[in-house]
Amino acid sequence: MRILITGASRGIGLEFVRQYAPLGHEVLATCRKPHDADELEELRARHPNVRILELDVVNADSVRECAAEAGARGLDLLLNNAGHYGRSTGDLDTVDPLDWMQMFEVNSIGPLQVTRALLPALRRGTAPKVVGVSSVKGSITRNHMGASYQYRSSKSAFNAVLRSLAVDLRPQGISVFAVSPGWVDQGEDVTGGLGFDDRLRKARKFVAEFGGSSARVSLQESVSRMTTLIDRLADTDSGGFFDHLGRPLPW
Ligand SMILES: NC(=O)c1ccc[n+]([C@@H]2O[C@H](COP(=O)([O-])OP(=O)(O)OC[C@H]3O[C@@H](n4cnc5c(N)ncnc54)[C@H](OP(=O)(O)O)[C@@H]3O)[C@@H](O)[C@H]2O)c1
Repeated sequence: MRILITGASRGIGLEFVRQYAPLGHEVLATCRKPHDADELEELRARHPNVRILELDVVNADSVRECAAEAGARGLDLLLNNAGHYGRSTGDLDTVDPLDWMQMFEVNSIGPLQVTRALLPALRRGTAPKVVGVSSVKGSITRNHMGASYQYRSSKSAFNAVLRSLAVDLRPQGISVFAVSPGWVDQGEDVTGGLGFDDRLRKARKFVAEFGGSSARVSLQESVSRMTTLIDRLADTDSGGFFDHLGRPLPW
């Protein structure tokens, strides 16, 4: 496969490169600052099938130049992974409109611009797929914990973008999916600092929103599950929203 990944400098994007590269796929790993992406550079040195391209998803010139660099050859998988959590927690008391706008730019608008720029290459791909790394936090139905106004709404907008892309690109044979990586374990205590009853209440809401104990997952396992899922998804699944275990998520 020929794969392009956005936001590959660290986190989930870098792990996608780490897992796809040894399989021999041609990986176009994109990031904002290739000169600072040491871990990506190490992967490229070990795997000649990895190419590093510069891409800032909110910069129109950068998007155009990256698409030109990616070239005319077919693209089989576009992974819109780059994301921005914002500076503010986005609670009712701390919503920051400027920060929020930047999150919309990176999380919702950027992926559409990147996808549009790469359409000529995707049209030449084999069973081409566009995958958006979204979040269960973008699900309106599964919102049981409230708060996170900025992040939730930017991911809900991303989901709407992906769903429209799925409809619009179906006639061209391009499938589009939203996937949620699960709650990738970064060691934080989601019920920290609360009394017993509040902890219990919050834990119950957390399970309702994130889907049980399987929601907490290591970076390696989350990405491994998502690569398996992406492989398995067929054109008949296009327009769907799935968690890392392949279970359909409600919008
Ligand atoms: N981790 C989780 O638990 C979790 C859960 C649900 C969904 N997600 C989603 O999964 C994706 C990856 O998350 P992560 O935890 O790996 O995040 P992360 O560690 O914060 O990495 C974010 C990546 O996005 C890149 N990025 C940010 N703004 C960009 C821009 N304008 N143009 C290009 N790249 C940009 C960053 O590049 P720089 O290095 O240049 O900043 C970085 O490579 C995100 O979309 C996130 O919303 C994550």
